[in-house]
Amino acid sequence: MAGITEGEAHRLLEGSSKLFHSVLVARIMEVLAPGFAAAPQDWGLVGLLHDLDQDATEDEPSLHGLRTVEMLAGRLPDASLRAIKCHDHRSGIKPVTVLDRALIFADNLAILIENQKLKTPCTPTVLFEAVRRECQDKPWIAEYVLGFAEREGLAIWDVVNKIGPR
Ligand SMILES: [Fe+2]
Ligand SMILES: [Fe+2]
Repeated sequence: MAGITEGEAHRLLEGSSKLFHSVLVARIMEVLAPGFAAAPQDWGLVGLLHDLDQDATEDEPSLHGLRTVEMLAGRLPDASLRAIKCHDHRSGIKPVTVLDRALIFADNLAILIENQKLKTPCTPTVLFEAVRRECQDKPWIAEYVLGFAEREGLAIWDVVNKIGPR
């Protein structure tokens, strides 16, 4: 079976409560990809489709990601399916690859941008203040966002600025 085009991914997401979030995660993944010698199109699709089953698994969070992988089996590279399967810790599947960890970073950075209404241009001061505020409710954001960036040598504010204005 053929791979998935961006147009088809958007059609699959029609009516999803996570459309805006998914587009934002896709943009972050596209920005990250070149730094990891990956194809922006491949990583963008992982971001776009990572929450495809969100509305269907709302009552069964342990299946979040797994349903999507069942739906897309054979249509995305195994590495992409793996990242989708383990992006939410409630699946119980541990992230291993850099793509797995990049998706978790992008997912949580998107949540930070959405909740704290981060605008561009973003500076280190603005970014760290936003993380501090977000961590009052969601302490794991610090590890998922700051931890990954530190290990990979990423300036998060640069990533935010490269996504472009919203
Ligand atoms: Fe998710
Ligand atoms: Fe997400």
